Amino acid sequence: MTKELFTLEGITRIYKRGNEEIKGVDGLTLKIDKGEYISILGPSGAGKTTFLNMLGCIDSPTSGKLIFYPDNGEMIELTRMKENKLDEFRRENIGFVFADFFLLHSLTATENVELPLIFSSGKKVEDGYSKKVLEMVGLGHRLTHKPLQLSGGEMQRVAVARSMVNQPKVLLADEPTANLDTGNSEVIFNLFEELNSMGMTVVVATHAEELAKRARRIIFLQDGKIVEDKGGK
Ligand SMILES: Nc1ncnc2c1ncn2[C@@H]1O[C@H](COP(=O)(O)OP(=O)(O)OP(=O)(O)O)[C@@H](O)[C@H]1O
Ligand SMILES: [Mg+2]
Repeated sequence: MTKELFTLEGITRIYKRGNEEIKGVDGLTLKIDKGEYISILGPSGAGKTTFLNMLGCIDSPTSGKLIFYPDNGEMIELTRMKENKLDEFRRENIGFVFADFFLLHSLTATENVELPLIFSSGKKVEDGYSKKVLEMVGLGHRLTHKPLQLSGGEMQRVAVARSMVNQPKVLLADEPTANLDTGNSEVIFNLFEELNSMGMTVVVATHAEELAKRARRIIFLQDGKIVEDKGGK
């Protein structure tokens, strides 16, 4: 099994608005190993969200090469993959957590967590797994609550449980604690650390510097470029 999970070679994303061109990320070249826990820091507009969108194949780079290494020893060049294959790749390998929890208010915690299972055809997940992940995030006593009956911290924990239900290889979180108080932010970061200790690769973009510093590797972005890669090789 290769040690690497992702290789990025000169990943650039240019956004066009009229005649204006903005480089969201500009020539990112780096490797991410399996099991790493990385924080992405940088001022607003630095390219953190764009970077996560590239890794998670939510959006495609304008140029550059993105390679993913699954456990079977293959090497997948994501930047050459067709859209429908990319959808499948994303469903099977990537979990996302956002600042706005994006829960459906008419569904219970369990139903929200189970949503991704409806869209994933290939992967078999054991019965009762959604309950298991909700217990793991400390919400075993909130299975049938609806989002509006939960606190912000609990809502985000449901969203983390949902991102894990497909047992992804990578968890990508974009300012997951932007709408949470200090205590709940701490809970979410503790949860990420726990998932990482279980082998999941975690990449978190955040403005919460103190919490970000708990990661072994911190990548600082500015104007779409890596200005420092602390703890990286
Ligand atoms: N869809 C888009 N169209 C045009 N420009 C965009 C688009 N998305 C992002 N940008 C620009 O690309 C740059 C990087 O944006 P990005 O959202 O990645 O920054 P960020 O580091 O996540 O910022 P924040 O901390 O505010 O979330 C910014 O200058 C932004 O204005
Ligand atoms: Mg952002």
